[in-house]
Amino acid sequence: MFRLGPLGVLLVLASQWYYAVSAVTVYGPLGAQGTPASSGAAPSATLGNADWTNKLNAYNNVRLQPPPLPSPMPPTAFSIAVPSQAQNMPGLSIPQRGDFWGFSIEMSVVQQVIGKNASFIQVPFLNLLAAVVERAGSVRIRVGGNTQETATLVDSLADNAMIEKAKSAPSSSAKGDATPTLLYTPELLHLLSNISALVNAKWYLGIPMNDTSNLRLQIAEAADAILGDNVLGYQVGNEPDLYADHGHRPADYDQNDYNNEFGVVVAAVQQDSKITNKNKLVAPSLQGTWTPEDLFATGFLDSYASSLSVIAMEHYPDQNCAAEFPDGTFGPIKDPQTVFPNYLTHASGQNLVKPYLNTAGIAQQLGKEFMMFETNTASCGGFPGVSDSFGSAIWAVDYGLQMAYSNFTGALLHVGGQNVSYNPFTPPPTNLSVFDQWTVGPVFYSTLFMAEALGTTNSSRVVDLLPNDANPFTPAYAIYEEHALARIALINFMDGQTAGYNVTLSIGGNQVGEPNDTPAQVKVKYLLAPSVSEKEQITWANQTFGGRFQADGRLSGQEFIQTITCDQGANTCQIPVPAPGAALVFLSSDAQTNADPTTMTFSTTAVTKAAETLTVAASALATSNGHGGKLPLSGTSKGSSGGAAAIGVPLSLSLASMLFGALVLLR
Ligand SMILES: *[C@@H]1O[C@H](CO)[C@@H](O)[C@H](O)[C@H]1NC(C)=O
Ligand SMILES: *[C@@H]1O[C@H](CO)[C@@H](O)[C@H](O)[C@H]1NC(C)=O
Ligand SMILES: *[C@@H]1O[C@H](CO)[C@@H](O)[C@H](O)[C@H]1NC(C)=O
Ligand SMILES: *[C@@H]1O[C@H](CO)[C@@H](O)[C@H](O)[C@H]1NC(C)=O
Ligand SMILES: *[C@@H]1O[C@H](CO)[C@@H](O)[C@H](O)[C@H]1NC(C)=O
Ligand SMILES: *[C@@H]1O[C@H](CO)[C@@H](O)[C@H](O)[C@H]1NC(C)=O
Ligand SMILES: *[C@@H]1O[C@H](CO)[C@@H](O)[C@H](O)[C@H]1NC(C)=O
Ligand SMILES: *[C@@H]1O[C@H](CO)[C@@H](O)[C@H](O)[C@H]1NC(C)=O
Ligand SMILES: *[C@@H]1O[C@H](CO)[C@@H](O)[C@H](O)[C@H]1NC(C)=O
Repeated sequence: MFRLGPLGVLLVLASQWYYAVSAVTVYGPLGAQGTPASSGAAPSATLGNADWTNKLNAYNNVRLQPPPLPSPMPPTAFSIAVPSQAQNMPGLSIPQRGDFWGFSIEMSVVQQVIGKNASFIQVPFLNLLAAVVERAGSVRIRVGGNTQETATLVDSLADNAMIEKAKSAPSSSAKGDATPTLLYTPELLHLLSNISALVNAKWYLGIPMNDTSNLRLQIAEAADAILGDNVLGYQVGNEPDLYADHGHRPADYDQNDYNNEFGVVVAAVQQDSKITNKNKLVAPSLQGTWTPEDLFATGFLDSYASSLSVIAMEHYPDQNCAAEFPDGTFGPIKDPQTVFPNYLTHASGQNLVKPYLNTAGIAQQLGKEFMMFETNTASCGGFPGVSDSFGSAIWAVDYGLQMAYSNFTGALLHVGGQNVSYNPFTPPPTNLSVFDQWTVGPVFYSTLFMAEALGTTNSSRVVDLLPNDANPFTPAYAIYEEHALARIALINFMDGQTAGYNVTLSIGGNQVGEPNDTPAQVKVKYLLAPSVSEKEQITWANQTFGGRFQADGRLSGQEFIQTITCDQGANTCQIPVPAPGAALVFLSSDAQTNADPTTMTFSTTAVTKAAETLTVAASALATSNGHGGKLPLSGTSKGSSGGAAAIGVPLSLSLASMLFGALVLLR
């Protein structure tokens, strides 16, 4: 189903150049002793990736108590009866695409996450995208965020760099938005283009809006030329309802001001002959301080709908800003244990979509996409122990399906830097780490579940079944593809040996006014972990990306798809759903046939020789984590870290070229 494109064969690993490297020596202020190293000194501390644990939120060790079982307990055996024909099922969503869940990548972490330049692509990232694409047909990725507002495209940078942090910090020192100012070259767009040539990735970019009297439209001009149809849209304004709070606009900046400024951009785009598609704008990307209705009351949609391809919002269900800025501005630091139960309920997704149902209807009338352009468990870095737990994986399954049911047309999970706990994937903490040492977050598994739930036909319509008397701990959705029931998703938010539940599923039959239509057998894939608090042992159909610092972006292990025999006489199937867990039941014969996507991955295993020690001074390796801070980092050495050393460093290349465990695209 997914084939190696012509460019794929150019992915060459010259294995004879590669030496195995297994750990990282750190000589920075964040080293083991916490003492800055003198440049050129012998390594005083050898830090494996695992030693970053608890120093950076992406590798925090917080492990929460699973919330107690609900009281009263919901019934743990209940029935779901659904029609087999879409026409007999009320409340279906609009047709949805398998790439519903995509990713939003902060522009400042592009080199760590996506690639160093157009010929140096992060292989684990390619593998992760391929995992989505082989299930969804495509994947949508936004490169932007706060950084897009002040980023500037330049022809070239010193040392042939693709991205450089501008020397002066942005004028605002506002909290929650301490992002670096970036300069970047068209090489970034070539990088994205080259990725699209390898996997079916489509991109959203952002037109900077920090200064509408001196617009910088170069990104759209260049991306239209370089990416063509692979660029889906240009966001104009990232959370404009926070501009005043963040000091980017006067304190009285309001909806009319944004409406007017947006008009300036629209007019400039119309007049720019180098922008070939002028109707690809994405807006208004409100964070929630303004309601969509208040903005639309300015005439925003009447004036500009024809320029929009996506009506977008950006919202997180909670924020953890006090942890990042503990000076009281954001009140007391929230306790992750206290907020944990908020995520383990169907109510979370329902409450998240509620403010947007009206806008979803408007978008549908206007024929526009309606996307949650940036979201995750909590802004300001997430909650350690929550955002990186299995609980967040089943939360994101329910939230994604709830958005699809509510006529959103897509949603993007945000990827921050090394110091956030919610990342769907995190590259190793140093740019010299090897490429099988990524960390795949629980919410990444949710994107695979969602992709398989919706499939590749663009025709999947979703309905929230509200089973078990709409109990919030046992939600379920039906997915109709073309005109017939294809799949059912069952979620169990409860945690405990005794709170698995059994669904008695009936397709068609008297209850729904159709002939009995339960198949002889169904196939079921499970998203599982031992507990909602689990951070590493997560499996999708018994396969895993591995624990922290263990991923190369490929699923490993023996895939297991459960076959359950149904009782056609009784028109029932018994589907068990463990606590906690989520089950995807494949019903139609097409769905059952497609339950097992053929896997295509980019190999990262070509390694050969013995470990080789390499040392580097921290001063040479200072790097940014992109989320708003600077992280001085690293070097490599043969070492103590337990991670398997399945990757090489090309010794024939300069030190600067062997970072990130990236794969050199030879052409
Ligand atoms: C907008 O960003 C650019 C690039 O960082 C900067 O040169 C310019 O001064 C900024 N404009 C305003 C009004 O802040
Ligand atoms: C890949 O990147 C290189 C360097 O920018 C560029 O010359 C080439 O055209 C790109 N290939 C594709 C398929 O975009
Ligand atoms: C990471 O974030 C925490 C707050 O969650 C903060 O205390 C810490 O200083 C940050 N670390 C770095 C290296 O930025
Ligand atoms: C989604 O759109 C469909 C088609 O217009 C409509 O019937 C359905 O009620 C909408 N769903 C929600 C939750 O508003
Ligand atoms: C689904 O939609 C995408 C985007 O519009 C399109 O590229 C793709 O060809 C469609 N797939 C099918 C099977 O129609
Ligand atoms: C589910 O059904 C299985 C098989 O009949 C049974 O062993 C199990 O106890 C049931 N679980 C619940 C929670 O009812
Ligand atoms: C699940 O995967 C493990 C590890 O690959 C394998 O040992 C086990 O047999 C698999 N279980 C099933 C039921 O296939
Ligand atoms: C590591 O990344 C930083 C920031 O991107 C860069 O300045 C440095 O040169 C990189 N190190 C190597 C060895 O490329
Ligand atoms: C791409 O980046 C790698 C690693 O930094 C470097 O070795 C290579 O020269 C770069 N290629 C180009 C065309 O800039």
